[in-house]
Amino acid sequence: MTSVLRTSQSQSPLILRTLSGEATTPPPLWMMRQAGRYLPEYRALRAEAGSFLDLCYTPRLATEVTLQPIRRFGFDAAILFSDILVVPHALGQELWFAEGEGPRLAPVTTAADLAQLREDLDPDRIGAVLETVAQVRAILPRETALLGFCGAPWTVATYMVAGRGTPDQAPALDLAARDPQLFKAIIDRLVGQSTRYLVSQLQAGADAVQIFDSWAGALIGDEALYRRWCLEPISRIVSGVRAEVPDAKIIGFPKGSSRFYPLFAEESGVDAVGLDQGLGLDDARAVQAIRPVQGNLDPEVLLSGGDGLDRAIDAILEALGGRPHIFNLGHGILPQTPIQHVERLVKRVRGGLG
Ligand code: CP3
Repeated sequence: MTSVLRTSQSQSPLILRTLSGEATTPPPLWMMRQAGRYLPEYRALRAEAGSFLDLCYTPRLATEVTLQPIRRFGFDAAILFSDILVVPHALGQELWFAEGEGPRLAPVTTAADLAQLREDLDPDRIGAVLETVAQVRAILPRETALLGFCGAPWTVATYMVAGRGTPDQAPALDLAARDPQLFKAIIDRLVGQSTRYLVSQLQAGADAVQIFDSWAGALIGDEALYRRWCLEPISRIVSGVRAEVPDAKIIGFPKGSSRFYPLFAEESGVDAVGLDQGLGLDDARAVQAIRPVQGNLDPEVLLSGGDGLDRAIDAILEALGGRPHIFNLGHGILPQTPIQHVERLVKRVRGGLG
């Protein structure tokens, strides 16, 4: 089962060196959503599990799915297979995935709704995730990092309040404007429980963790909103995690932060900042002058492949090489992406320029 994994060289994972501020050539490489529907072996196990949530909560299957992209591509990091919505689910919020439509939750829009949720995470649900972390770490070669993760409070709250994904996060923005006290209570519950969740992932064997703020871009119209709902909750999680695990390595991904990326890099406390593909490479370098960066190949460019892919990879390596950089996409890989394009990417990033 482990025979095709890269052999152990008793080395510390490359990505941990980058997160400590070291530049390496080539840079470490992994892809957001690297375990997913573009892989036939994922689709097979997904069918065996029945539902997406059953896949997340069955350690044997979640472990196998986490390892699939490592076996195929030898990435420098595996990311725990789970979902950011496991946290509201473990707080007792009803959650299901409507086939082909994405997540659905029973919306939390009143103080009474919030009062019905648990104060802490249901150990049965979280226990299955932590068991997966331990199983994956036991199988992975030492030089491959295992990343844990959680959603940032703002992004998770957008789903909790709307009960689904929305194009503009209007329901959460409205609630935050109409009843900031209630919205803050939701965010505070998430800050506390996400902190504990990340600490338990690190204790179970994760080498580093990533905080996904996929909808940070909805807050960039107003610096006060950005600080209050994106930056401050994340920096509270970062200091809370470090209070328990002082050397914890943390990547923050405030997707769509645009002009606020430098502010996030300065003030959040994270070890590296995930950049989306909307950020130009000059601006990416400006963020990299503050903190190591991760990113930011456009998933559409990976989908298209060909010379355009090679040129985009080279441009990123040229702009961000020589300083601490983790090669990644600017967002998750698209399900229609051909596997050969991923193979081409791995070869080119590892082979260097030219
Ligand atoms: O990156 C990885 O490989 C690790 C696993 C992972 C998943 N979701 C698996 C998944 C991670 C880190 C996530 C994070 C996540 N989940 C985010 C933040 C990152 C981002 O993409 O913006 C968000 C917003 C979610 C919520 C979520 N989960 C949505 C909106 C959807 C439906 C959209 C879709 O792609 O189908 C999911 C489902 C989901 N999470 C799938 C996977 C592989 C697809 C489920 C399936 O197999 O049908």
